[in-house]
Amino acid sequence: MSAVSVQSHFPLQALNTFGMDVFADAYAAIHSPADLMTLRADPTWAAQPVLVLGAGSNLLLTGNVGGLVLHMRTTGKEVVGEDHSSIYVRAAAGEDWHTFVLWTLEAGYAGLENLSLIPGTVGAAPVQNIGAYGVELQERFHALRALDWTTGEIKTFDHSSCRFSYRDSFFRRARGRFIIMDVVFALPKRWQNNLSYPDVEQAWRAQGAPPLTPLLVSRIIADIRRRKLPDPAVAGNAGSFFKNPSVSRARFEALRADYPDMPGYIQADGYYRLAAGWLIEQCGWKGKTVGDVGVWETQALVLVNRGKACGQDIARVSLMIQEAVNEKFGVWLEPEPVFV
Ligand code: EPU
Repeated sequence: MSAVSVQSHFPLQALNTFGMDVFADAYAAIHSPADLMTLRADPTWAAQPVLVLGAGSNLLLTGNVGGLVLHMRTTGKEVVGEDHSSIYVRAAAGEDWHTFVLWTLEAGYAGLENLSLIPGTVGAAPVQNIGAYGVELQERFHALRALDWTTGEIKTFDHSSCRFSYRDSFFRRARGRFIIMDVVFALPKRWQNNLSYPDVEQAWRAQGAPPLTPLLVSRIIADIRRRKLPDPAVAGNAGSFFKNPSVSRARFEALRADYPDMPGYIQADGYYRLAAGWLIEQCGWKGKTVGDVGVWETQALVLVNRGKACGQDIARVSLMIQEAVNEKFGVWLEPEPVFV
């Protein structure tokens, strides 16, 4: 029998990386699948809307949270199989993402090194299809299990049923319905390094281009991230606050005619992905502070809480930036974190 308990008026400030000082009406720490099933079997809780909380690193809490907050604290990681091309590794939703990445690399399984040091948990990673330095989670994803809170059933989702796209998945759109319990990754047996991102290749050359290993790539990427991105312990933040927008080729060419330095990357669908950080910087917002909300000095895509900002303050500055970018470039930026 699981001994899960629900606490009322529970403080969430330490559980979200923006450091928003808000409360959960009802909060439960989930340490096992049995904890989850116990709560779902109780008609009082089964009827409540749920917010699934991992590391709280992609979340903007704009006020107290009603319903039931399920804080995923489950642990466990293991190799579950292999075939000619891949090693299959499963991890529980509550595992810290970077600890899991290092565990795979130290065990000799490559494939997740470019996703090193992304804040968050394993269970949250598929929701927004985390990506960095030329690799997206969907390229290493095999399957996941999730509890459907509306029916109480546990379902397995294969790759296609997750409907991954840039920083998006079925789970992000069906938020509050499925609680991801564990994720299986397919890690390639034959390693192919990915230095496609200019920052990574430059950092490697700057070290004298030593022989590449997955652990070395992981270290290079972790260094770049530490250099560019603020530590939430120092300045509350949720990583990139906006997604990089995508525009048609015609639109990109028109923008390039006006702004020859504008970065843009062609994608498989023929559209061009623009660098939101560049657009924001061009509007003069990099390093700017409004009240207690700041735009990070070395990466304009990141909004930080410089003190006592509340979710509404962040949302207001976010809107000011969206309007500035729209006015100058005619492009509307979409926030990356989930607003609650
Ligand atoms: N740029 C600027 N000014 C800035 C920031 C960026 O001009 O303040 C320019 C850079 O010079 C470069 C381009 O914009 O030409 C891209 O910048 P960067 O390499 O820093 O990456 P990004 O597009 O800003 C994305 C992800 C990051 C991820 C990096 C590396 C999104 C929304 N963000 O940022 O993801 O780490 O690429 O792959 O896709 C996150 O999602 O939380 C996150 C940090």
